[in-house]
Amino acid sequence: MSTVYLNGELLPSERAMISVDDRGFLFADGIYEVTPAYRGAPFRIERHLDRMRRGLSELRIDYDPAPLVDVHQRLIAANGLEGEEVSIVYVQVTRGVAPRAHAFPTTPVRPTVYAFAKAFKRPARAVWEKGYSATTVPDRRWARADIKTIGLLPNCLALQAAVEDGTNDALLVRDGVALEGALNNFFAVIDGAVVTHPATNHILHGITREYVLELCWESGLKVEERPIQVEELARASEAFFTGTTTEVRPTVKIDGRPVGDGKVGPVATQLQDAYLEGVERASPPRPGDSPR
Ligand code: PDD
Repeated sequence: MSTVYLNGELLPSERAMISVDDRGFLFADGIYEVTPAYRGAPFRIERHLDRMRRGLSELRIDYDPAPLVDVHQRLIAANGLEGEEVSIVYVQVTRGVAPRAHAFPTTPVRPTVYAFAKAFKRPARAVWEKGYSATTVPDRRWARADIKTIGLLPNCLALQAAVEDGTNDALLVRDGVALEGALNNFFAVIDGAVVTHPATNHILHGITREYVLELCWESGLKVEERPIQVEELARASEAFFTGTTTEVRPTVKIDGRPVGDGKVGPVATQLQDAYLEGVERASPPRPGDSPR
């Protein structure tokens, strides 16, 4: 059984209870964050907490996420995840508990803060090297996809459509533009440039996206942040998704058509390797490793 965090306390998950009047339950009135930890060390947690601060401020939920750094560490320790190559910490903050009414409660309520940590299994390299597939799905989300709200029904429906199509990812399309995935950002290599949608209100500003862009700049790859027309994918040499639970995931088929030569390409390989090196440098040594 896992140990979770709820409103200031660590407790067994089966004892963590949330009111039926919680606005997260009734209205999806809250935000969440997922931060990866490599051998127990949260990666880029400050970037995740900054995004959380922006989301809380957009939704006008009065909560300071600073103490969550410690909560991440305590959850990792309490669940024995220090030695795990990859684990994730999920945090959700809702506006709190109040009788159901659409407008905000008129008397101040305490936000509900829930978090859990669990191990994450990275796919074997041989699986990764075969590549993944995606299905284009209309983007039915609201116009503030940059806020990481817990209202994920359109994302769930989009991914379910991909699963039913026998593919791994949903590529969300709005007005002919390939925006991002149901739970990850999207990149394509077009005319030699690594292209991804700009960080507007129509996509989540992924922390992995940001890191992968830094890796592109560091290695001198040409980068373009601009909308990608779905038709352009016909001449893309590569495509890939990025995210906390995706890392760099190469897409070799979209809607049944091969991307480029239909094989995992050099740019995705270079970026996944650079990503793995980056997280390795940021992780504590393995037991028995010589000092770095
Ligand atoms: N999803 N786009 C969407 C719609 C997402 O939900 C996510 C993250 C991303 C990638 O963001 P990041 O690189 O910061 O993980 C992009 C998380 C992992 C989830 O819903 O589980």
